[in-house]
Amino acid sequence: MENRTYQALIVREEADQRFSRAVESRNTVELPPGDLTIKVRYSSLNYKDALSASGNRGVTRSYPHTPGIDAVGTVVESNRKEFAPGSEVLCTGYDLGMNTPGGFGQYIRVSADWVLARPQGLSALECMQLGTAGFTAAQCVAGLRNNGVFPEKGQVLVTGATGGVGLIAILLLAKLGYEIHALTGKKERQPLLRSLGVTSFAGPGLLDQEPEKLLLPGRWAGVVDTVGGTILANAVKGTDYDGVVASCGNALSGDLPLNVYPFILRGVHLLGIYSANCPMPRRQATWRQLSAEWKLDELATISRVVPLSALDQEIERMLARKSFGRTVVDMEEDA
Ligand SMILES: NC(=O)c1ccc[n+]([C@@H]2O[C@H](COP(=O)([O-])OP(=O)(O)OC[C@H]3O[C@@H](n4cnc5c(N)ncnc54)[C@H](OP(=O)(O)O)[C@@H]3O)[C@@H](O)[C@H]2O)c1
Repeated sequence: MENRTYQALIVREEADQRFSRAVESRNTVELPPGDLTIKVRYSSLNYKDALSASGNRGVTRSYPHTPGIDAVGTVVESNRKEFAPGSEVLCTGYDLGMNTPGGFGQYIRVSADWVLARPQGLSALECMQLGTAGFTAAQCVAGLRNNGVFPEKGQVLVTGATGGVGLIAILLLAKLGYEIHALTGKKERQPLLRSLGVTSFAGPGLLDQEPEKLLLPGRWAGVVDTVGGTILANAVKGTDYDGVVASCGNALSGDLPLNVYPFILRGVHLLGIYSANCPMPRRQATWRQLSAEWKLDELATISRVVPLSALDQEIERMLARKSFGRTVVDMEEDA
């Protein structure tokens, strides 16, 4: 392939462990080897990208680096017959944006094993309005249902309700007829959350303090937790008999200060959810579901599209817990 110059967000390690971010020119010759070279149409901002973009070594080992765990675009070079040049494809997770240059560059080069054909029924923009956040939210909701939590069993709690995963979980649960209880630190967003299907809110102190109690009154049939820490611990303690808690995030903490009583006295199930290395058959089935019977009409309400040049400030907003919903990055706008 001819070498192409393109724009990418580059994160650099500066002196005294500070990290800087700037949009710079790159050339496709610098991309790692791989089956497919993809021209990225849209990417999206996930919490993991904000961590990679701020020097978190648990996500990205070495810098300079281009984050972006999500990308949708067109194959421009291929050595695999199932993805001919011109194919429209979707790539989320695996090592993309972690230690492989990610979707915040206008080109990526990846293994064909990481890539799906863009699902029929979802535009390129819709794919990134969902992105890893939507894919993860769908797996959380599927996890509740696969373990017997249907609307008639009772309320479902969603934590981190104004985040990407939280909001898409709310939209999916509302579409499927659940009563939704939400926890958000952004009181001013409660009216919008109500308009999207939330019926009630967790009051201050219930979940975000550290009660000495071994159990809390059983309120929830299911939980989608995106924050971890004491909030997840208290959500487990407040889950009713045979309830299911889907744990997918650590926006508050990676710790889980918990005892065994919710499990041995109420049969609460704690369900771990992962997305990056989700096996391809489950990955394809989940995206198919998101493009068909679980297709959401409200994605535009919970997302914004920004150019690559605005990404730096969006990352700061996410780290400061000031963002709302999903941020899609238009990779052609500044081209
Ligand atoms: N398991 C997986 O494969 C997987 C996939 C995707 C995401 N995740 C994880 O899921 C979490 C959410 O991801 P996201 O992309 O939706 O991020 P996001 O858009 O930044 O949402 C996170 C939300 O969590 C809440 N929050 C943030 N900091 C908090 C704190 N200190 N204490 C309590 N709540 C806090 C905020 O909601 P409110 O202000 O409304 O409370 C925030 O909007 C992250 O931890 C991410 O790493 C995991």
